[in-house]
Amino acid sequence: MFRSVILAASRSSRVERLVATAPFSRDVVRRFVAGAKTDDALRATRELVDDGLAVTLDNLGEDTVTGEQANATRDEYLTLLRMLAEAKLTPAAEVSVKLSALGQAFDEQLAYDNARAICAAAEAAGTTVTLDMEDHTTTDSTLDILTKLRKDHPSTGAVLQAYLRRTESDCRELASAGSRVRLCKGAYREPESVAYQSAREVDKSYVRCLNILMSGDGYPMLATHDPRLIAIGEDRARWFDRGPDRFEFQMLYGIRPEEQARLVGEGYTVRTYVPYGDDWYGYLMRRLAERPANLAFFARALASKK
Ligand code: FDA
Repeated sequence: MFRSVILAASRSSRVERLVATAPFSRDVVRRFVAGAKTDDALRATRELVDDGLAVTLDNLGEDTVTGEQANATRDEYLTLLRMLAEAKLTPAAEVSVKLSALGQAFDEQLAYDNARAICAAAEAAGTTVTLDMEDHTTTDSTLDILTKLRKDHPSTGAVLQAYLRRTESDCRELASAGSRVRLCKGAYREPESVAYQSAREVDKSYVRCLNILMSGDGYPMLATHDPRLIAIGEDRARWFDRGPDRFEFQMLYGIRPEEQARLVGEGYTVRTYVPYGDDWYGYLMRRLAERPANLAFFARALASKK
């Protein structure tokens, strides 16, 4: 219920105006977002890499509605990748891309062309691209574009969401040699017809999917902050004899940094997902919906500014 209300607010332009102009927002945003500019992204990446973490960078923005916006997003990724290579932050840093920011909703071919340009730039920079997964109406289109991109850029990563009923079968399809697959729980509000609704069902699905990926031939990327699922990931890594070059953990910037450091200390590969840019509203609202404690943090920031 709580999650639904916040996720509904994430699509409301009235709530967005209210939150974006509130004086407390900056402090809250800073905890989860590296900053507005490409330089901020580079600075955060450098700090994380110096601490032994790998990074995936997300230029915030989604649901682009014009070709100009979609091309501007592509160009920002091209600049980012050039700067990462110049700063010798590749291959430790890669990029995460939302196809909706590249035009998927109104021109799939444009989204594909833009994603292909980003994949080529990533290859030139010596790193990789992962296609974020958005709401379930885009899953088929995103997986189709992934298949096409992988013909020339086989290292392009997929994201699968454990809350979707279809995902076990998608895991089987994608658990092949060289296939990079990020497994997450899923962050959107989805109907019962396509998605498990209870946390317990989602967690059980996550474990089934994790088992398929960890026992398969691909490169699993276990994206979760959930201590029980991380422990199961560690267990399966031992069981299937997967060293730090054969799978990784992933977590979001600003969330459980001490756990990220612990896993690095244990010798695992850990990648931090670092969002940056002005368009932080949808991202922040999904983080608030996930965890009431994040909302309490938000409320405390509000109270302290009164
Ligand atoms: P969940 O939020 O259910 O939390 C489970 C437990 O983890 C909590 O009970 C608590 O113990 C611990 N925990 C969580 N947050 C904590 C905190 N702030 N402090 C302390 N403990 C905390 N989604 C999507 O739909 N498409 C995508 O492409 C991606 N990409 C992506 C990349 C990466 C790297 C990550 C980590 C996540 C995504 N997601 C995503 C988001 C994902 O689907 C999911 O919404 C969030 O990761 C939250 O789910 P968790 O698995 O972390 O557990």
